[in-house]
Amino acid sequence: MHEDVVDVKGARVEGKIALVTGAASGIGLACARLMREEGARVILADVQDGLGRQAAQALSNDESEVFYLPLDVSREDHWMQAVQEVRKRFGRLDILVNNAGMGIGGPVADLALEDWRRQQSVNLDGVFLGIKHSLPLIREGGGGSIVNVSSVTAKVGSSVFVSYSAAKGGVRSLTKAVAKQCAALGDGVRVNAVLPGVIDTPIFSRLEGVSGDAVDARATAARLAPLGRVGQPEDVAYGVLYLASDEARYVTGIDLIIDGGLVIR
Ligand SMILES: NC(=O)c1ccc[n+]([C@@H]2O[C@H](COP(=O)([O-])OP(=O)(O)OC[C@H]3O[C@@H](n4cnc5c(N)ncnc54)[C@H](O)[C@@H]3O)[C@@H](O)[C@H]2O)c1
Repeated sequence: MHEDVVDVKGARVEGKIALVTGAASGIGLACARLMREEGARVILADVQDGLGRQAAQALSNDESEVFYLPLDVSREDHWMQAVQEVRKRFGRLDILVNNAGMGIGGPVADLALEDWRRQQSVNLDGVFLGIKHSLPLIREGGGGSIVNVSSVTAKVGSSVFVSYSAAKGGVRSLTKAVAKQCAALGDGVRVNAVLPGVIDTPIFSRLEGVSGDAVDARATAARLAPLGRVGQPEDVAYGVLYLASDEARYVTGIDLIIDGGLVIR
């Protein structure tokens, strides 16, 4: 964690059960760690099983507090099994963080349909499936909070990441639509989106179809963000924690932009 972040450690999500997707790395890992520190029992889910298990064990050796669940968010059968497992172990789910994502860049005229579909499948279908299959369990417990990790590209587009921008735009709209649906039903479920700017995570080493500045997060953010530096995963995790906690009980359907001022207009 950055030493200059005000340390207000406590029990902001004490007693809650939280499922974080894409939790083996980057923003998801920071969210899982912070929620654990703030009293939640946390399920880390990812496709990187080795890293995910290691990360979960580093947070706690007690599987009744923290455990790792293999989950490809784009697979409906995986989601069905995952929710069943959470139900069996904890009997409830209070917080879902739909964070898993990946990026493929490049000129739109050269983009293979297969790559377009892979982007939508992980970044957008994954969020839809997470919401669809987790909602019944969250509702059974009387409500909770869903936080979807979108991106500032959802608002302003990215010339490099076209299909990614479209998928993240879908996440943003889906968030607002489901937030309204849940509110209308009075089911106690809040649904919000977090829109990160450029955050220093391993995603930049995994990007496909791009090179140079687009993968050099530090240089890009230092040049473009008014706050003059790249974001850290914890900068985003604090926003996710707020939306996940009861502090945000009157907040639903919002875009929480965490980008060092990148998209100020
Ligand atoms: N880093 C940034 O600058 C930035 C900016 C805006 C939005 N985001 C979004 O933040 C989220 C987290 O990204 P990050 O920067 O921490 O990257 P990251 O690569 O460090 O973490 C993403 C995690 O998602 C996992 N994942 C990928 N496909 C998956 C799948 N099908 N099922 C389950 N897990 C899967 C990866 O294994 C990885 O652990 C993503 O949705 C990303 O699009 C990141």
